[in-house]
Amino acid sequence: MVEKLPEAGKIWYKGEFVEWKKAKVHVLSHGLHYGSGVFEGIRCYATEKGSFIFRLKEHVDRMYRSADLYKMEIPYSKEELKEAIKETVRINGLDACYIRPIAFYGYHHLGVNPAGCPVDCAIAVWRWGTYLGEEALERGIRCTFSPWRRIDPNTLPVTAKATGHYLNSMLAVQDAKERGFDEAIMLDNSGYVAEGPGENIFAVKNAALYTPAVESSILPGITRDSVIELAQDTGYKVVEKPVTKEELLSADELFFTGTAAEVSPIREIDNVTIGEGKRGEVTGVIQRKFFDVVNAKEEKYMRWLESVYE
Ligand SMILES: Cc1ncc(COP(=O)(O)O)c(C=O)c1O
Repeated sequence: MVEKLPEAGKIWYKGEFVEWKKAKVHVLSHGLHYGSGVFEGIRCYATEKGSFIFRLKEHVDRMYRSADLYKMEIPYSKEELKEAIKETVRINGLDACYIRPIAFYGYHHLGVNPAGCPVDCAIAVWRWGTYLGEEALERGIRCTFSPWRRIDPNTLPVTAKATGHYLNSMLAVQDAKERGFDEAIMLDNSGYVAEGPGENIFAVKNAALYTPAVESSILPGITRDSVIELAQDTGYKVVEKPVTKEELLSADELFFTGTAAEVSPIREIDNVTIGEGKRGEVTGVIQRKFFDVVNAKEEKYMRWLESVYE
């Protein structure tokens, strides 16, 4: 059973802090009917040096890029939104949390064309642990190739993190769970590997990393970007290219990356064991490095951490 959201005290909604239960939208809001919203998923980590938001700038930049792709004008500057995000964490007194900013077309008139609808923004934060479970980070998860193809760049701007896009992810997740798997792996319209419903994917072969390029219908993940840099910094070769199903199945190791999934090993696809069926050596190195970085233990990468309380 999936647990209900752990409620925090206040949500930032249209520029003001409101009680969690009072942050409501009208049922005729454009975003509800047509999926016209853009959002982010961001993590704040509690470390020995204080609370830090991981790559806040890049997340806010992506949110504005997503809005641009849909010609949506967010009525706040990036600086205002970043400050509002930090203030929402502070006002709720959280040290580690998940952060969800969203901008969507609100209530005005109802028709596909959103012209005239306000762009309403909200920021919510809540306590959150590992997405796929602590055990998953160590043992790895069991995946299946989804019968649902990833949305295509000729249909929607797939690099936007837009609310409506997640119907595609939802179908893939539901199908995977119904068939007893932890997570889905989606192919693009040409049959190459794209990504998970909320994660990017990496294969390890002969100690080199392979990941689908942005052209393969993926969301350009911020964790993906971080892992590419950390892997190169550690001396691994990283190749962004079209990846086939076969390359995944014959990989030495596989792992997912994402704000929610962090760095999660994949031990099986459709009951085929990947590598040794547990977290591989390279995945272990990258995972440790990633957790050191988000826990403020790597001086070089402190530039990715934004202090909340100082
Ligand atoms: C479809 C999809 N792909 C990949 C990712 C990973 O992106 P990030 O690392 O920025 O969280 C996410 C999560 O935001 C996602 O929803």
